[in-house]
Amino acid sequence: MTSGIKRIAISTGGGDAPGLNAVISAATRAAHNRGWDVVGIRDGFNGMLLGDDYPDGGLIELTRDRVRGIIHQGGTILGSTNRGNPTAYPVQQADGSWIEQDRTEELLERFAQHGIDALITVGGDGSLTIGNHLHEAGLRLVGVPKTIDNDLDRTMATFGFDSAVDFASECIDRLFSTATSHGRIIVVEVMGRYAGWIALNAGLASGVHAILIPEIPYRLEPVAELIAQRAQRGSKYSMVCVAEGAKPVGGEYTVAAKSVGQAERLGGIGAKVAAQLEELTGRESRAVVLGHLLRGGSPSSTDRLLGLRFGAAAVRALDEGRSGVMVALNPPTVDYVPLSEATSRQKTVPVDCDSIQTARDIGVRFGDEDIGHS
Ligand code: F6P
Repeated sequence: MTSGIKRIAISTGGGDAPGLNAVISAATRAAHNRGWDVVGIRDGFNGMLLGDDYPDGGLIELTRDRVRGIIHQGGTILGSTNRGNPTAYPVQQADGSWIEQDRTEELLERFAQHGIDALITVGGDGSLTIGNHLHEAGLRLVGVPKTIDNDLDRTMATFGFDSAVDFASECIDRLFSTATSHGRIIVVEVMGRYAGWIALNAGLASGVHAILIPEIPYRLEPVAELIAQRAQRGSKYSMVCVAEGAKPVGGEYTVAAKSVGQAERLGGIGAKVAAQLEELTGRESRAVVLGHLLRGGSPSSTDRLLGLRFGAAAVRALDEGRSGVMVALNPPTVDYVPLSEATSRQKTVPVDCDSIQTARDIGVRFGDEDIGHS
């Protein structure tokens, strides 16, 4: 190919996800094999924008040695941030307040100064939206989708999700035994933002009795009824899996924090649900938040493979002269969709999907049941 590329950069932005290092490894090696140099930007775009704050100038030369043996490692060797959006960069004022500044032009100048011909940006909806903006501002760029939440519509899957579901299931398995010993209700809160994929898949795979997801606003009475029926039959314990974005009928998301330059942070619904179930059933309840545990640790083999395939496909795209596209899984292949479309719609759980139907068929409650008839 005659792409004219000599040097590319890779950045990882937003919340990390198992499989990021597989992307970095494959993209770096595929680029080297085309004779290109590769540089990694530290912490999203901060390594470029705040270079002086870093002992190494904020950029890591990605040599073969640097990417050796990283495929199985969790996190990202480049670091990440969700407080580094160059289009709305958070800047603290003298009075302590925060404002947002557009630093796009400055960022593009730095790319030129460092002789970088193209960028591979790895991220979720936030980072891919930024990627689209940078592409429209003139940067040659390919996006790689990443999120444990599985909420990107234009790719069948993102790496990180499989590892998150696997680990959540393992944790729920462990919680089952202590719930059984003590005859308690345990409510497990999992991440997923405004989509219930992790709660649905992990909850179903580990056999919980109720699953609460954002797509199905809940009432706790049907869940409490099931718990009471189970107790009557001699099963004193019950397990509930709740997505952090679940909300009651007519209610709102439970927001843990909101600060300038960052998306609102969800969290705390598990404790609320546990307290309310305790009141409704008179049974002792506990809440466990799995939170960032779901983002840590070694990626599953599925996520390693997806990361490797996405990383290599991003380099092929650049070599073929593409820009402004996102790599997407479209089995049996990996193809490309325009970045402008990549984040236009969130992929949430269809409420009539087979997994929901399966759960209902085996007696799992979602909090929307007509009680008294089941
Ligand atoms: O999008 C990934 C995710 O882990 C969400 O599931 C969660 O709501 C959010 O990121 C948490 O982000 P932070 O790293 O800011 O706590």
